[in-house]
Amino acid sequence: MRSDEGRADGDVEYETVETPVLVIGAGAAGARTAISLAESDIDCLVLGKRGHGDAHTTWAAGGINASLGSRDPEDSPAIHAADTLNEGHLINDPDGVETVARAMPDRIRELQEWGTPFSETDSGDVQQRYFGAQSFRRTCFVGDRTGEAMLETLIGKAQDLDIAYRENVQITKLLSNGEQVYGALGYDMDNGSLVLVRAHAVVLAAGGYSAVYSRHSSRDDENNGDGPALAYDAGARLMDAEFVQFHPTGMVAERYGEQWEGRLVTEAVRGEGGRLLNADGKRFMERYSPDQMELDARDVVARAIAREIAEGRGTENGGVYLDISHRDRSFIEDRLPSMYERFADLGVDLAEESVEVAPTAHYSMGGVEIDFETGATAVENLYAVGESTAGVHGANRLGGNSLAETVALGKIVGDGLAEHAADRSVADLPVLPASQQRLAREHFAGLDAMAGAGSEGSEDPKALLEELGDLLESHAGILRDEEGLTEGLDALADLRERAGDLAGGERTNRSFEYAVDLGFSLTVAEAVLRGARERRESRGAHFRTDVEGTREEWRRNLRYERSFDGMELATKTPGEPSPAVQEALDAGYELDYHQLE
Ligand code: FUM
Repeated sequence: MRSDEGRADGDVEYETVETPVLVIGAGAAGARTAISLAESDIDCLVLGKRGHGDAHTTWAAGGINASLGSRDPEDSPAIHAADTLNEGHLINDPDGVETVARAMPDRIRELQEWGTPFSETDSGDVQQRYFGAQSFRRTCFVGDRTGEAMLETLIGKAQDLDIAYRENVQITKLLSNGEQVYGALGYDMDNGSLVLVRAHAVVLAAGGYSAVYSRHSSRDDENNGDGPALAYDAGARLMDAEFVQFHPTGMVAERYGEQWEGRLVTEAVRGEGGRLLNADGKRFMERYSPDQMELDARDVVARAIAREIAEGRGTENGGVYLDISHRDRSFIEDRLPSMYERFADLGVDLAEESVEVAPTAHYSMGGVEIDFETGATAVENLYAVGESTAGVHGANRLGGNSLAETVALGKIVGDGLAEHAADRSVADLPVLPASQQRLAREHFAGLDAMAGAGSEGSEDPKALLEELGDLLESHAGILRDEEGLTEGLDALADLRERAGDLAGGERTNRSFEYAVDLGFSLTVAEAVLRGARERRESRGAHFRTDVEGTREEWRRNLRYERSFDGMELATKTPGEPSPAVQEALDAGYELDYHQLE
């Protein structure tokens, strides 16, 4: 990496950083990609918009899937892939699915070797629990702090390999002519300085967009769509944006306070036997899903809860009850330590009482379309990995598959890039074309204006983000229809106009970050609303109340591309699974809840 501070170009001053490979995002996907690069002696720079080690991965709780067969020896990568395709309602990319399922047993063994303290069975194998809609106990875990433990391991490994890392930098634009990427532009959130990064390749590992909804399970001010929006703006295609996962069990603000609104109560509570009850004390999943009960697919359980609440059988705080008090205290403390402590701090004893929950936006299945052999996007030198991408999860994601995707594909993308970047040092970086120099100047001037004169605009970016969140909740939530989606798009156009008059504030202020986030969020919100209106059927997490059921003619993916006239939508047909996975699909494996009893 080479850095040249304080270059002045016209009126704009900025720092230039040069690196063979730039990784944007410092969670599990970015870290695992960087580790593969470093193991092949390729230098890279990982940029995080928070402090080192402080990434959204730390909030992934309940586990990571791998068909190790510690508890159920019949399990296999082919059945893992078949479960993933079934849950994705068969519009996943089968290459992506099979790549992840095949890689995962090795990735778990590797993490264990690097120090992740997975819970173990009495015989010393990695312990595995049930997660929703999985035919076997396949989810490996570290209590209920799996993501945090994994990220600690990956960061430790990255430090051993001396991987360059820079914290508190927000990337605001990619240097791209629509066909090729040359680097990225952004600013240092600590001192406000502008930064231009030149690289042979850029990897987007910057998360998803579920936090554009006002009730969500993400950390504050993250998952605003940075990754997909940066890629779209650079000329890459997005896919499946209409599919947003609502996790069934988010905390309820009316009961626990505003700061807990939508926060996750891990699926592990249900995986370890937790039961859902309505206000009448009835275990209502008996009615919606008698065989799979609380461990049916997330979309099914989330819609069941929403319906109980809508039909007046919810609690007075607007939730339903989740109860695991039939389990021993020591079991709960061992398997669900974070949940146990969190609720104890709130004065609730999980071993004695139930908690109140309701669905919360949790994960975006949509994102950047990539090639699963390399992570390449449609734009040369631009790659993507993790929740920024689309394809592995189709119309709905299996719990435990997001952490799996980060490490399985992180390694593949890193290994592939290592070949691409081999023998290409910073000294070989091409001179930045004049058009890209102009683009950088104009973009930086725009950031300066937003921090300076533009900051005198009349609209508060945080307030607009909140309005956008409410707009999506009410027009593109768990249940959707054409009229509501069209109204949502009209309201979005108004919001976009108002976003032209922002009070951004200094670049070191949070309000400046909100202004940047708003730009990303408006892009992904348009994709969600337009895609959801276009898809005239119900499939997985996308449920239309004005069209009957799932339609074979819609076994297609929606693609979103930027054109001169704005966002263009097209469709493509997903590929076919391999014979082994087709055989597993035909065998009809599915979770049998009663094994838990
Ligand atoms: O509920 C959970 O612990 C979430 C896991 C996941 O989304 O993979």
